[in-house]
Order: sequence, then structure tokens, then C-alpha cells
Amino acid sequence: MSADSNEDLHRLFATPVQLLHRVITDEACDALVQMLRSRTSVGNERSSSLFHTALMEPGQDAGIDALARQLLPFIQEFGALLLGEMRPWSIKEMWGNVMQQGGHQSIHNHANCMLSGIVYLTSTVDSTQTVFVKSMGGQDYKLSNENQRTKPTAFNSQRWRAPQASPGDALLFPSYLLHEVPLNQGAERMTVAFNAIPDRIDAWGYGLSFGA
Ligand SMILES: [Fe+2]
Repeated sequence: MSADSNEDLHRLFATPVQLLHRVITDEACDALVQMLRSRTSVGNERSSSLFHTALMEPGQDAGIDALARQLLPFIQEFGALLLGEMRPWSIKEMWGNVMQQGGHQSIHNHANCMLSGIVYLTSTVDSTQTVFVKSMGGQDYKLSNENQRTKPTAFNSQRWRAPQASPGDALLFPSYLLHEVPLNQGAERMTVAFNAIPDRIDAWGYGLSFGA
């Protein structure tokens, strides 16, 4: 019997990442694609083939507002996994991304929020699937056993590629997770990203309220 098939093997301190299928319709996707084409004016600092919109405020675009309303129930459910209780959550910022062939998104995470997400407006395949990275190291020496014989498992993997996504799918993840998009070797990749916060967290009376 292998260790992995042992029913007493526990996957301790798991990290939730969820791909929601078809959060918005094809028609809503098409409308957002058209909207992004006219608003992606901010060039990415590290990739000349990646463009962003400015942060989109509520009331600026009906399609973005509708998307936010569609996402909120899923955000609250996912947030309950992170916090251990169901609380009101809100989306504090949304922005669009257009990555042409040859573009990439450098590794990063999202500050000043707890839950982040990506809504895919185009299909992702291989080189355009979001990749999560476990750590970037620090100021300690690192011990590693990564070589051609290494079999990736949930316990030793340093990278995890999100599943293939279709237009209208949304990926939710804790905001602290490092992520990147490899060199896009395929078609144009269009997404809307967002950050969300709960109204308040409470550690036995030591509370903290959040606002945009
Ligand atoms: Fe991101």
C-alpha cells in the first residue's frame, strides 16, 4: 500500500482555490470583451504585450456592475471557508486585463484584501492558465529535492497550474497566494480581476473592520 492511499493520511492546513463554471453568460462575456478593448490603456511595467484598465468603480459600466452582483454570493461562500463563518463581503476593486500573444504576468499577490479572483473572458489553455507558486524563498537557506525523478504531490509541489477555464468561468483564491501567467503562446487572453474584503473579522473581541 502506498502512503498516498492510506485513509489515515491527512492533508493538513489546506488552501482553497475554486474554479466556478459559467458565472456569466456568453453574451455578458462578449459585452465585457468589447468594453475592455476600449478601456485597456495602462501598459504593464514588465510585459509590453499586457495591458490593464484603470480600476473600475461601481456605476462606470453596467456589465461590470452585473458581474459584481453575480460574483458576490460565491465570494461570500468562499469567504466562509477562509473565515469559518458567513459574513457580508464586498468587492473593493475590479480591473480588466488584455494579454496578447507573447505577453506574461509576473509573479505577484494582491495587497490590502483577503479574497481575489479572476473572471476569464477567453478560454485558457496551457500557457495562459494561471499558475500558483508556493513561495519565493526568503533569507533562509533552502533545502530541496526537485529533480527529474521527483513526483509532484500536494505535499512537495512548489507550483500548481489552475485548471483550463472557459469564457465566463471565475477562479477564487486567498489574496496572499503568489500567482503568475506564463508566456502566452496562444491567442489573446482577456480577464477581469477583482479583490474582496469581509466587513469585519473578530478574534475573541479583538476586532478589525474593513472598508474600501
Ligand atoms: Fe493577480
